Amino acid sequence: MPFPTHRPRRLRRTATLRRMVRETHLGLDGIIEPLFVCPGERVQKPIDAMPGCAQWSIDRLVEECRKSQGLGIPSVILFGIPARKDATGSEAYDEQGIVPRAIRAVKQAVPDLFVWADICLCEFTDHGHCGVLRGEEVDNDATVPLLVREALACARAGADGVAPSDMMDGRVGAIRSGLDAAGFEQVPVMAYAAKYASAFYGPFREAAESAPSFGDRRAYQMDPGNVREAMREIEMDLAEGADIVMVKPALAYLDVIRAARQRFDAPIAAYSVSGEYAMVRAAARNGWVDEDRLILEILTSIRRAGADLVLTYFARDLARLLG
Ligand code: PBG
Repeated sequence: MPFPTHRPRRLRRTATLRRMVRETHLGLDGIIEPLFVCPGERVQKPIDAMPGCAQWSIDRLVEECRKSQGLGIPSVILFGIPARKDATGSEAYDEQGIVPRAIRAVKQAVPDLFVWADICLCEFTDHGHCGVLRGEEVDNDATVPLLVREALACARAGADGVAPSDMMDGRVGAIRSGLDAAGFEQVPVMAYAAKYASAFYGPFREAAESAPSFGDRRAYQMDPGNVREAMREIEMDLAEGADIVMVKPALAYLDVIRAARQRFDAPIAAYSVSGEYAMVRAAARNGWVDEDRLILEILTSIRRAGADLVLTYFARDLARLLG
């Protein structure tokens, strides 16, 4: 029945009424805060392109994790900057490497915080690609066993979950069986299933010192024009045993999140990446946008599209804004 019988504005008149009919609610429950850990002691190295974020040495990281938990943030995902990089990213699967050491320290100090280990070689290779090279190409099948070793090193250190972000084919199944064979059948895999080759990762590559030294990641990360392919990636990862599937980036890929939500019943995560964060901070610094409202609106839109879990550098802002 059209106007004047129906007046949609009736339900928008007061804050109380708007609150009562709101369809999407923001909370901290599905929030995962990404944190960067680097060698050294008492180190807080700010990341230029991500104001408010820093690389932390393990001692400082532990303090940050305590703070996050105190704010009600349930989970973090750790990215490591190794002391040394080499062609095969060996610090990634060294049990004394930066990430396993960080996991042990955090789990000891803040046992209830759910710690995800990002599984990828790009922070650890001297060429910055996500796997080992054969010529100028990333060799899929030579990389997968190294990712399994990385996941095992993190699980042994006490990681609550592992999140492969490399986009090698078959790595989810290999990691699942590797974990199971080592007695880690209870450790969930959150697969970066539909991860696009995106310019939105720019600031992260400064943060993680992981920019490829030649070429780009288009031969393994997805083409931004594709959504049907994203469904196939997600389907494969679920078939290989992924517990949670991720779409990344988030804001420019809300349609992909929505399509995944409609098609799959597994929990869906969305990664609101470094470039999304940097754009908001930069515009806010210029006085061009209302930062707090923008943060709430963007996170609401990601949840409205269908994401259950959201990885966001705004985790603490959200905690503050939710009071
Ligand atoms: C590592 C990885 C990347 C991000 C998360 N894991 C970078 C990349 O693929 O280049 C990006 C996160 C962000 O931009 O916030 N493979």
